Amino acid sequence: MSIEKVVNEDLQVINFFLMDMKMNILDEKALNFNFRRIYKIKVNNSIIAFICYLMLVDEIELEAIYVKPEFRNNGYGSKLVEFMTKEALQLNYKNIFLEVRVSNKSAIQLYEKYGFEIANCREKYYGQEDGIVMKKEVR
Ligand SMILES: CC(C)(COP(=O)(O)OP(=O)(O)OC[C@H]1O[C@@H](n2cnc3c(N)ncnc32)[C@H](O)[C@@H]1OP(=O)(O)O)[C@@H](O)C(=O)NCCC(=O)NCCS
Repeated sequence: MSIEKVVNEDLQVINFFLMDMKMNILDEKALNFNFRRIYKIKVNNSIIAFICYLMLVDEIELEAIYVKPEFRNNGYGSKLVEFMTKEALQLNYKNIFLEVRVSNKSAIQLYEKYGFEIANCREKYYGQEDGIVMKKEVR
């Protein structure tokens, strides 16, 4: 298993994962946006997971994390959150923020495992569904 930077050639796979999450797809410009970091996990030479976050001026914002359904519950999501946290520490960031649907229990469990706490609730942020803002203090 290795964690590597996503490159233009990976865009189709990453967009397939984004569509599965009903999120907006990326074009090459968005992929290579200065503040955006996207990393993939490859198993047997195919991409099975990715994480995407923004390195803003004073915080990191997790935009998306995804593990292919048949590879879930094997620690890959954890590896990606650990990777992002390590980068946050190295670059002296204080906080990581994210937004998640209230119903997304497995994602919330993953974030709580790594010390994210509920910071705010955004009512009806996802149409009928509330969004939860979670925050992790890196240092
Ligand atoms: C959320 C997601 C990334 C987790 O990835 P994963 O590789 O399955 O996560 P891990 O195997 O590292 O599990 C980490 C923790 O998450 C929690 N977890 C994972 N799957 C769970 C489930 N089905 N139910 C409850 N908790 C779960 C557990 O606390 C687990 O820790 P543990 O193994 O020490 O008990 C994955 O389920 C996914 O891709 N979901 C669809 C996309 C999505 O909703 N992304 C988040 C919004 S952008």
